[in-house]
Amino acid sequence: MILVLDFGGQYNQLIARRVRENHVYCEVHTLTDGEISADKNVKSGLGTAINFDAIKNLNPEGIILTGGPQSVYNPTSSLPPAELFNLNIPVLGICYGAQAMTHVLGGEVKKSDVDEYGKTSLEILSASRLFKDVEKNSVVWMSHADRIFTLPKDFTVTARSENCPVAAAENSAKNLYAVQFHPEVLHTVEGKKIFSNFVDICGCKRDWKMDTFVADTVAELKNKIGNGKVLCALSGGVDSSVAAVMLSKAVGKNLTCVFVDHGLLRKNESAEVEAAFANYDLNFIRIDAAERFLAKLQGVTDPERKRKIIGEEFIRVFEEVAKKIGAVDFLVQGTIYPDVIESGLGKSAVIKSHHNVGGLPDFVDFKEIIEPLRLLFKDEVREAGRQVGLPENIVSRQPFPGPGLGIRIIGEVTADKIKIVQDADAIYREEIFKAGIASKLAQYFAALTNMRSVGVMGDGRTYDYAIVLRAVLTSDFMTAEAAQIDWAILNKIANRIVNEVKGVNRVLYDCTSKPPATIELE
Ligand code: XMP
Repeated sequence: MILVLDFGGQYNQLIARRVRENHVYCEVHTLTDGEISADKNVKSGLGTAINFDAIKNLNPEGIILTGGPQSVYNPTSSLPPAELFNLNIPVLGICYGAQAMTHVLGGEVKKSDVDEYGKTSLEILSASRLFKDVEKNSVVWMSHADRIFTLPKDFTVTARSENCPVAAAENSAKNLYAVQFHPEVLHTVEGKKIFSNFVDICGCKRDWKMDTFVADTVAELKNKIGNGKVLCALSGGVDSSVAAVMLSKAVGKNLTCVFVDHGLLRKNESAEVEAAFANYDLNFIRIDAAERFLAKLQGVTDPERKRKIIGEEFIRVFEEVAKKIGAVDFLVQGTIYPDVIESGLGKSAVIKSHHNVGGLPDFVDFKEIIEPLRLLFKDEVREAGRQVGLPENIVSRQPFPGPGLGIRIIGEVTADKIKIVQDADAIYREEIFKAGIASKLAQYFAALTNMRSVGVMGDGRTYDYAIVLRAVLTSDFMTAEAAQIDWAILNKIANRIVNEVKGVNRVLYDCTSKPPATIELE
């Protein structure tokens, strides 16, 4: 097992992911005020609390200190205890983690003359087990304003970059490794090899697999829930479907799945979801709440407010259903890791509040919320779905956000705009499917810009909306690039949309990557 200590970097869960790719069990915990606080457990997603003594009891094979936004010389910054480096456990410090290791062990970290953000070239200076089979010169991803100036005793420099003389350093006798760059992001070309080498340095057996995740989580859920009643928010998407089936394995008839049609679903989706789950024993209830959501959204244009309203209304609907069902102890949600990190996990900055995380109101009328997939990436959720026997048409479904079309309509949401975006999106999906490229795209959808512009149709002037088409390639949804769809296909889609969807006279294609854009428009 490898323990990841989270100092709030944006890419922290990618670190856990790189470890898991090596089939090593991994837990991520947060260090607050010198204490390792309650956090999350990658294996179950149910959470455990640990402190420094608990780390010793846990006795991990390796420890990774993550990056983060703090500066080690700021007196309020979190720092690992110096004893952590005397446990005879290999430690890998990344970015802030490398600086924290240096600082705690007596080296010096200061503001760098030149900040380094983005890709840079790394040159390995001396042999290191961490860099076994890594090219001497390779591209790495940097993101730092401080840097290591003086190394602690018994450390040597093992790599440098143009603006960072200590891009990597180590005390090989004690297996302490510091890297200023981010090996966890895909832009660091040799990153995967570096993690694999660290796993070898730690002597891990590499025997952790998804099927143990499913079996262990079902067992833990059974244990935790006992005879309690469980309500599951089923959206028909991969995440909540996998969560629902796992819960049904754990508690059987004590599970009720509620599907809220908030009126912000894709065209015909509501009927499709109902049909898909007809064959499962999930106590499936469909609630038609479209008017209620629309009324709450009236006049609201701010994206974060929209997300919060939709999230809160969801909870209210569930509470009402729960009251009708009788005592309900647990609410299950299919929240997955990218939803968590972007809503501000640990000390990371909030980018968007995803409705099933940040949008939760303070008062929730349930004993507890259970999010069994909280620490899995999308492709891992799909893998879990296959293992619990879900059919491929559900498992490989493209993701659809909880707030639905509410965040694909820029500005105020109205019934007319919903219809426009539903119709345009249905055409887009149909044509992508016909072109045979659906499986190559991670996510693709139409959204309604709030922009109207002049056009000419027949002999008349129009002043109508512009639809924007988005299609992205990604596996983890943390970063993504715009797909290069064949022009002929786009042309056909644009023609069909302006001809068939009333109120649209212009179609745009979004070519931005994430970052700097996000996948959704709001
Ligand atoms: P962004 O727009 O943040 O999207 O780059 C990343 C992935 O998350 C989905 N998404 C959501 N999923 N609730 C969800 O369940 C939400 O509030 C939400 N917002 C975005 C998005 O569709 C993409 O797959």
